[in-house]
Amino acid sequence: MIFITGDIHGNIDIKKLTADNFTMGGSLGRNDYLIICGDFGLRWDNSPEEHFWLKWLDRKPWTTLWIDGNHENYNMLRDYPVEEWNGARVQMITDNIIHICRGSVLDIDGVRFFAFGGAESHDKEYRIEGKSIWRDELPNSQEMDDGISALDSVGWKVDIVISHTFPYHIQNELFGSANFSRNALTDYFDEIDKRLDFKLWFTGHYHVSEQYDEKHYLIYNSIVQLTQDGFRTVYPTNNRHSSKEHLPATIAV
Ligand SMILES: [Fe+2]
Repeated sequence: MIFITGDIHGNIDIKKLTADNFTMGGSLGRNDYLIICGDFGLRWDNSPEEHFWLKWLDRKPWTTLWIDGNHENYNMLRDYPVEEWNGARVQMITDNIIHICRGSVLDIDGVRFFAFGGAESHDKEYRIEGKSIWRDELPNSQEMDDGISALDSVGWKVDIVISHTFPYHIQNELFGSANFSRNALTDYFDEIDKRLDFKLWFTGHYHVSEQYDEKHYLIYNSIVQLTQDGFRTVYPTNNRHSSKEHLPATIAV
C-alpha cells in the first residue's frame, strides 16, 4: 500500500503519524510506503530531540519516503551518498527512511511517480543563511535537466507527481503573489503540468489539505492511500478538523 501526506517539519507536524491518527500504520510492513511531500525537517540541527524523532519514525513498520521542501538542512543532506533505488536517485537516511532526490522517476508496486522537491521560503527575512535557510531550497539547472531527462525516459507519462510547490498558475490563482513568489521552479512546473501525462499531483508547502481540481491536491495534515484508480482519505476521517483540513473521502480518475 502507498500513502501520501504533507509536511512534518521535524516533530512539529509529525503527530498525524501517531497510532491514534494514522490508525492503519500499525498493520503495515516494510513494503508499504508513506510519502511525505517535503519539509521533512528531521535532518535539521542534529539535536537529541531530532534523533529521538528520527528513530521513532524509523521504527514505524512502514518505509518512509520523502522529497525535500524548503525547510531542510541542505548542508547535512549533502553528506549522504546518492544511490539508485526503484529507478530513482535516493539518499538512505536510515534503513527505513529514504530521501528521493529531485527529478526522479520511480516505480513502486506498478505505480510510476515523478518526484521533485524544493520550494522558495516566503519568510526569508526571519531566517539565517546556512542555519535556517539554504540557497539549495530551489533547484539548480542540473537538477531541472535531470527531471526532464527522467521524464524523457518514460515518454512523459507517469501516474503520480509529488512536489513541494505547485505550478505558478495554480499557486497564483490560489494564493496570489503576496505570500508565494513566482520563481524558476514554479515556472518549470507550469511547463511540466502542460506537457506531462499524469493522473494525480500532490504538493505540500501551503499548509492546507485542499483539492484544486480533479488532478491537483494540496496536502498537509491529511493522509491519503492510493487506490486502483485514485485515492481515499484515511486521516482525518471525521469533521473535527476545519474545512481546510479535508480532502475528498475518495477520488477516482
Ligand atoms: Fe512547510
